[in-house]
Amino acid sequence: MVHDTTVLMDEKRVFKPSEDVKNRAHVKDWDAEIEKGKDLDKYWSEQAEQFEWFKKWDKVLDDSEKPFYKWFTGGKINLAYNAVDRWIETEKRNQIAILYINERGHEKKITYYELYLEVNKLANALKNLGVKKGDTVSMYLPMCPELLIALLACNKIGAVHSVVYSGLSVGAFVDRMNDAKAKVLFTADGTYRRGKIIDLKKIADEAILQCPTIETIVVVKHTGSDIEISELSGREIFYERLVEGEPVDCPPEPMDAEDPLFILYTSGSTGKPKGVMHTTAGYMVGVATTLRNIFDIHEDDMWWCTGDIGWITGHSYVIYGPLLLGTTTVVYEGAPDYPDLGVWWKIVEKYGVTKFYTAPTAIRHLMRFGARYTNLYNLSSLRILGTVGEPINPEAWMWYYTNVGKEKCPIMDTWWQTETGMHLISPLPVSPLKPGSCTRAFPGIDAQVVDEEGNQVPLGKGGYLVVKNPWPSMFRTLYKDKERFLDVYWKDIPGCVYKAGDMVRQDEDGYFWIQGRSDDVLKIAGHRIGSAEVESAFVSHPAVAEAAVIGRSDPIKGEVIKAFVILREGNELKTQLIEDLKKHVRYELGPVAVLGEIVEVDKLPKTRSGKIMRRILRAQEEGEDLGDTSTLEE
Ligand code: WTA
Repeated sequence: MVHDTTVLMDEKRVFKPSEDVKNRAHVKDWDAEIEKGKDLDKYWSEQAEQFEWFKKWDKVLDDSEKPFYKWFTGGKINLAYNAVDRWIETEKRNQIAILYINERGHEKKITYYELYLEVNKLANALKNLGVKKGDTVSMYLPMCPELLIALLACNKIGAVHSVVYSGLSVGAFVDRMNDAKAKVLFTADGTYRRGKIIDLKKIADEAILQCPTIETIVVVKHTGSDIEISELSGREIFYERLVEGEPVDCPPEPMDAEDPLFILYTSGSTGKPKGVMHTTAGYMVGVATTLRNIFDIHEDDMWWCTGDIGWITGHSYVIYGPLLLGTTTVVYEGAPDYPDLGVWWKIVEKYGVTKFYTAPTAIRHLMRFGARYTNLYNLSSLRILGTVGEPINPEAWMWYYTNVGKEKCPIMDTWWQTETGMHLISPLPVSPLKPGSCTRAFPGIDAQVVDEEGNQVPLGKGGYLVVKNPWPSMFRTLYKDKERFLDVYWKDIPGCVYKAGDMVRQDEDGYFWIQGRSDDVLKIAGHRIGSAEVESAFVSHPAVAEAAVIGRSDPIKGEVIKAFVILREGNELKTQLIEDLKKHVRYELGPVAVLGEIVEVDKLPKTRSGKIMRRILRAQEEGEDLGDTSTLEE
């Protein structure tokens, strides 16, 4: 989906950092840092020195089995130890690690020491449940402190976590859970959403009926809604009961650098979600380095990333990056517009947030009211802003820069993916910025624009975004699907380079301008969802014979779903059925699947082998040339 970035898009328009930003910055010279990054071994081993290792690595990068790269082989390390335990020996002991706030204005502050106690108690409790190193534990939880504690407790004992976003519903949940074969599931009585409490437990209960591997369900009493103990089944236990009386110390499991850390599902071109697998040491190094250098994290920061922990942004930059750097991370449970459109700015003022990282869709949503809400609060604590998840249109960039950052905060437009684990293309605070461009590759990253044969295209021309060298926090494989890993990412373009799945262009300064996905993945309000997943939700409704979906541009959400359906005989696409279909898709996938329009058709464009050609539908939709139609069925 190509965004309308023509208005205001001006490659010559450059914003330079202030002296203040330059003076504070960890990295003072962008070009020199990029130069340093060219020596991968040296650059990344220097970054790895920031952690405490049980045993130092033997080799920084092992590329003997491309593309199955390995990093820091021979090293032994524990993530939770580095994110929590090591800080309690320092002056950070009583510093706030997690500042939880919700839409009702309730807050909970957890210091590093308190976090240490909680993580250990839960880690011990998990062991008692029979969870061992390498076992999978799943979470279907709201943005609540227990979610962070549960992830860290898994790391502490070497269990692999697999979080399911709490905005996904039954169908999506079952697919992900069964693929990961989780033993234990964490869920909660509910989550706050725009004044209501969504009953997560009910969704989990329905889904679990189809998830045979789960032995224990841990229920967090989060909203305090009434679940009586007697209502819990034999395999369910309240979180508070589970940790009661557990010892407050737990030795960290020394993990091999390449031991699995987590699986996180994301959408691809086919209906089956991809289990993106990350391993331990490299992930830690990549995430901490990018956060420190891109958002210039210092001792006194109050860091707020609004992303949900159910997605990679939350994994890398709500929990792991900030805690590995020993800063305070804000965990916010709520929407940007409830109880009103000033809620985020009120939080910035109240807690003195210094770095703020969000999605373009939220900015577009908030900018409709001009400066009305941003002017109500004092935002002078802010130093650096960031965006992630989709291209930011220059108008939204300018609004963010002017009204939120008051023209003094540089905006870090960070391009990356679930698969990359960390930011790969992004400015640093000292970089000259162009609104709408994520600028240049991070030091150590060789990103290029190529054609189908893998030849670099001239500056100014569009092509596929590829990464030519490995980086520490890259995903290692797709869970139990090595073939798909190779086919989707490494084989399409000759030369064994990483194919990101985005279309991109580089301007004459080498700045990248992301144009959108090159595959059938949609970005709805920054959330990644596969066309095929939505189609299978449609065809699981009894009235639908076939369905094809594409993204339709939307001024706020970036994209929404446009569905073309062939109905079974005897059905008509009237108001009632449209409502039913919307409900059904929401039940299967959750509120992330925003339906813009459903139209009835009697035929779908297909290849002779029966694959739906969504490209043709998109071209028709946008009134463009249909392109090569030689493979079309008729
Ligand atoms: C898109 C999110 C433009 C892109 C961290 C990518 C972006 C997909 C940007 C990954 C950006 C992410 N500018 N597009 N700054 N950041 N994207 O896995 O299409 O949910 O391939 O990871 O989001 O989405 P994912």
